[in-house]
Amino acid sequence: MRKKIVAGNWKMNNDLGATRELLTDLKSRALPEGVEVIVTPTFTNLHSATEALSGSSIKVAAQNMHHSESGAYTGEISGTMLKSVGVNTVILGHSERRAYFGESNALLAEKVNAALAQGMTIIFCFGEELDDRKKGSHFDLVKSQLSEGLFHISESDWGKIVLAYEPVWAIGTGETASPEQAQEMHDFIRRTISEAYSDAVAQGVSILYGGSVKPNNAAEIFGKPDVDGGLIGGASLKAHDFMQIVNAFS
Ligand code: PGA
Repeated sequence: MRKKIVAGNWKMNNDLGATRELLTDLKSRALPEGVEVIVTPTFTNLHSATEALSGSSIKVAAQNMHHSESGAYTGEISGTMLKSVGVNTVILGHSERRAYFGESNALLAEKVNAALAQGMTIIFCFGEELDDRKKGSHFDLVKSQLSEGLFHISESDWGKIVLAYEPVWAIGTGETASPEQAQEMHDFIRRTISEAYSDAVAQGVSILYGGSVKPNNAAEIFGKPDVDGGLIGGASLKAHDFMQIVNAFS
């Protein structure tokens, strides 16, 4: 049985004080059975987050990492550093990293290898831009993001992978893919994995949807058979909204 997961992508929001406040609020709330909850504070707040959440089942993930273990890479953070502060999960390939920081599929493949070498779990993000969808090339685009960034891994490595399909046109725009559009793409993703690996791998991987998921649309999106949860941006910054989304599985 694949996991149900709701991950909050905090992006470049919340200083130390705001991080502590939000985590204290989240920690005080009851979590539903059978849903894994993840938060992703900025690098400077990861250590205090893992400490603040000790004894809670809420997990802490990083928003990015470098593909080397150490060295002359000014301003970068490695997987070993993340692990040393209790972080064992990392988001890779978010569309903002791809668009603003030039992260290519080839670079992401290296980051994937580095995270796997550290035994870390990866939330691997991908998704088409509006232009791709208008041209009808969104399925091909998603397939190439997956095959170039991820499909070099071994079958056993899939136990460490969570996928997050995030159509770029739906991120932070208030425009959500319809539950049907999400389901259609998630089904396509599963079929693509099944062809490249096996049906067991395809059925075992959790596929999250991301892009303007809010308390008022989460239940409908999560109700689709191939949607296993969400990667939540804006709505993850408010404890009440985030917990409503966490509780949106029927
Ligand atoms: P959003 O962001 O929920 O604010 O659209 C989602 C994301 O970027 O992961």
